[in-house]
Amino acid sequence: MQLRHYLQFNDFSREEYAYLFERTRWIKQEFKEYRRYWPLTDRTLAMIFDKNSTRTRLSFEAGMSQLGGTAIYLSTRDTQLGRGEPVEDAARVISRMVDIIMVRTHAHDTIKRFAENSRAPVINGLTDEFHPCQILGDIFTFIELKGSISGKTVAWIGDINNMCSTWLQAAEIFDFKVHVSTPPGYDIHPELIGLKGADHFQEFVNPMDAASGADLVTTDVWTSMGFEDEAEQRKNDFAAFCVDSEMMSMAKSDAVFMHCLPAHRGEEVSAAVIDGAQSVVWDEAENRLHTQKALIEYLLLGKIKIES
Ligand code: CP
Ligand code: NVA
Repeated sequence: MQLRHYLQFNDFSREEYAYLFERTRWIKQEFKEYRRYWPLTDRTLAMIFDKNSTRTRLSFEAGMSQLGGTAIYLSTRDTQLGRGEPVEDAARVISRMVDIIMVRTHAHDTIKRFAENSRAPVINGLTDEFHPCQILGDIFTFIELKGSISGKTVAWIGDINNMCSTWLQAAEIFDFKVHVSTPPGYDIHPELIGLKGADHFQEFVNPMDAASGADLVTTDVWTSMGFEDEAEQRKNDFAAFCVDSEMMSMAKSDAVFMHCLPAHRGEEVSAAVIDGAQSVVWDEAENRLHTQKALIEYLLLGKIKIES
């Protein structure tokens, strides 16, 4: 089988996502009905974490075990990576011992170098630039709850971070629009995100205008992991960018609210919104498990004949 990695959302085509979502629906159903599905016995996933995680670690570890395989957690703090072993050497060694590898790290260049030297598929579990597994779960969740996302409007309120950049890549693949509102100085650089153009997003000074008419309103922390030194400055810069009930009321009446979590109530989102009726954040978190199981299956086994 041809070696494939999943480092950015645009590594896969729309057809491949359609297939993955079909597999996700089936895998989720089997899980809900306690039916065993163990296609990956004797297969091992290594998970390398250079940053903290709850959802990503748990969903990959539980998911691999539910597929009949084994997952091994490696923190850079207690591996030789934390003592300066070159990432290329680590990739060569680790990929001779396991079948698939998930990496959460800082610079995207690090995971690229890892993948270039890996014999096994590499999955991006978050870098400073992208978080494709999260958007995989988010788009599956939207389709599951609301139907096709094509032609819809997603309002992104807040930081231009790994989540925002991945939404922007996804918009080109699924043909939806992202309304982005972010404070001055936090600008989109389409060339750095690998966008084909500027047709699928529109920038708004006022976040209320960005939310207006949206089918989905979403945000994320003001300070991402690795940027803690900027936290105080960011609290000031983003003070007007809290998704509250008034902002949600600008969106369509049946709009949903998403947040990748962890969230800070009273900062990027009010408690009334994240704990309110339009919030789908718990479904969104759960679907990380099901979508990533489909992703691992696809990278290791290729296309499976869909069972009816
Ligand atoms: N959303 C997400 O990736 O959560 P964790 O940081 O807990 O993995
Ligand atoms: N943008 C956040 C996402 C956390 C899941 C971060 O990188 O910290």
